[in-house]
Order: sequence, then structure tokens, then C-alpha cells
Amino acid sequence: MNEKLISKLFLIFPENAKLSNMHKSIKILAIESSCDETAACVMEAAPGKAFPKTKALSSIINSQTKLHSKMGGVVPEAAARAHVKNIRPVVESALKNKGLKIKDMDFIAVTQGPGLLPSLMVGVEFAKTLSFATGIPLIPTNHMLGHLYSPLAFLPATSYQLQANFPIVSLVVSGGHTMLVLMEDLKNYKLLGQTVDDAAGESFDKVAKMLGLPYPGGPEVSRLASRGTQGKIEFPRPMIHDKSYNFSFSGLKTAVLYYLKTLPTTHLPLSAKQNICRAFEDAVVDVLTIKTMRAAKEFQAKTVTLSGGVAANTSLKDSLNTQCQKLNMGFLPAPMNLCGDNAEMIALAAAIKLHNDYKPVNFKKVHADPNLEI
Ligand code: KG4
Ligand code: ZN
Repeated sequence: MNEKLISKLFLIFPENAKLSNMHKSIKILAIESSCDETAACVMEAAPGKAFPKTKALSSIINSQTKLHSKMGGVVPEAAARAHVKNIRPVVESALKNKGLKIKDMDFIAVTQGPGLLPSLMVGVEFAKTLSFATGIPLIPTNHMLGHLYSPLAFLPATSYQLQANFPIVSLVVSGGHTMLVLMEDLKNYKLLGQTVDDAAGESFDKVAKMLGLPYPGGPEVSRLASRGTQGKIEFPRPMIHDKSYNFSFSGLKTAVLYYLKTLPTTHLPLSAKQNICRAFEDAVVDVLTIKTMRAAKEFQAKTVTLSGGVAANTSLKDSLNTQCQKLNMGFLPAPMNLCGDNAEMIALAAAIKLHNDYKPVNFKKVHADPNLEI
């Protein structure tokens, strides 16, 4: 170990690193590799009143969808190997896009977890090596905080309104997670509930598989659902009346499976698939909307936000938007380019860490954590 380099890492920010104490805008290189997207982003961040002023200068996403669709789902070892191959070119093109070099960066942010361990390790070890070789401090970042903050990326950076828009009730729905979070402000958030079994996106993927649709299933199920007839089939709404803010989607998936068993096994007509998708999507949207709005009322939310891969679902967005309008609450879905996994949201979460007051960590103590909690 080069002790000089290590001490350099800690001489840069001997005190807490707080964005408002920095005299110039800073640049963050963010790296994301938690599942099957290798992504890098260069973000400029400056102090702001309620929210840091952030601007993504370049954002690259290399998706492995094609690789995994052949297997009908993400194969962790194959994902990690693809990350190893892609990570350097992805990071290099994020920098080159704006004519930047690694030495122009002030911080390196990386997704520490949650996610698939082999995938996470590639990003984390790459970022640690870069940090060690360059002396640029490392900011380990929680993937779910990236999703949680991603709807806020849309707001004008100097917005004073944002302060007034708290408390926020946030629904985060992805392939691996389904969470309801109460945000009092950017620093104080609390998990209200989560799935007790399958995640919302996972249930879309599993139903798609049952119907012989390609991976990832969410967009495909949603496309067929939009052409299905409402009310032709009824599926259960699991835990909709349960007092907790937890969710369960595995029973719904089983209900679809049992329904399919009542049908002829060969050549299911397209209209039948469309109606099944519609009934399934309606059940998921109902549960997510009712529980989110119940939390929003209970905690007197001023705004409801929606993020994660499933936030790309138009029916879910429309349903939450309609209910928020009825209650005079703001509704902020994540912008489409930030719904699926990306490094811009990781840069944003790192910028918010710096905005809140960040204590630099020893990069040697940073390890990938597949079960990292918010
Ligand atoms: O956030 P994300 O890209 O990765 C994880 O962190 O898991 O989410 C991917 C999930 C997949 O399960 C995918 O099927 C789902 O998001 N998804 C959708 C839609 N687009 C993507 N689910 C429902 N409707 C969609 N339009
Ligand atoms: Zn994700």
C-alpha cells in the first residue's frame, strides 16, 4: 500500500465534506453496477438552499437486457462478467463525452448496495481502485436512495417550493424492491413498509414468463394490458386491507398461474393474454395506489413521488396522479430516463449526501453490501 496516497485521500477533506462549505461547484463521477446495467455519470453539483444545484453533464448506460433475455432473467455470474468487460469503457465515455479527465473529478460515487453481490463487487472494486490511484475521495451510495431521490432531480435546483412540498410519501417500485417511504426532508426518511415476498417489478417479470413474454416482463405486460378489457378477469388485491404498509405480490402471481391452468395449454389467443395482463396490472396498480394514498393521508403528505423501474408504468402513474389531484397533493414521478437503473440517480444521492454533510470514509472499509438498507 502506498501510504502517501492514502494520507492524501484524507488530507483533501480532513473535516466533514459539506457542499455549502465548498467554494466552487464540484464534479462527481458516479458508477452503478448493482444488477444488469453498467452505468456512469458525471454530475456537476453546487450548494443550494433546500436542494443542491445539480446538472448531469453526461450519463452512459450499458444495458445487458439482450444477454439475460436469452435466459429469461438475470444470471448473476454472467452479469458480473459483462460488468467487468463494460465498466472501463462506460466510465471512459462518460468522461470523454464532455472532454473531461478523471483528475477533473472531486468525488467518486459508487453503488454499494443493495443488489446482486457479484455485480456490485465489480463497481465497488473499480471505484475503490480509481479512488486509491487518484486520491479522489469515495462516496459509497445506497442504490435505493438513488431511486428515492430520482423524482426530485426534475425540480429546478433553486426551488424554494421543495421545502414546502415536504413531507413526501414516496413509492419506490423496482425489480428487487417495493417500498413506501416517508420523507420529512432530504435527510430524515423512514421506511413505512415494503414487500414481504416478491417485488412489484419481479411479479411483472414472473407473469410475463408464464405467458411466454420476453424479459424484462414489465414493459411487455404493460403493453398487452393497454389493449385488454377491464373487468373480464378479476385477480385478488393482496394485503389491500391490511393495516400495515407492507405489500405482497406472490399470491397474485399464483392466482395468475391457477387461472392459466384453467385454459387450454396451447396457443393462448392474444386477446386472452391481453385480458390477463390487464387484470394483473389493475390488481397491482390498485394495491400500490390505495396503500400509497392511505399513507399520504395519514402522514399529511404535500407530495407523493414515484420511482424505480415500475414507475415507467403509465397506468400506475395515471392512477396516482388522479388520486393526488383529488386530494390536492403534488405528484412527482421520476423522469422516464431515471426510472430504470442509471448512474445519474447515484450521483444525485451522493450530491445530497454532500449537501446534508458527509463524513469521508476510508475507501478500504467500503465493501459491496447486497442487503444494504435505507
Ligand atoms: O429499477 P429497475 O431498472 O431495476 C431494479 O433495481 O430492479 O427495475 C426493473 C423492473 C423490472 O422488473 C421491469 O419489468 C420493471 O422494472 N418495469 C416495468 C415497466 N418497465 C420496467 N414494470 C411495469 N411496467 C413497466 N412499464
Ligand atoms: Zn434499481
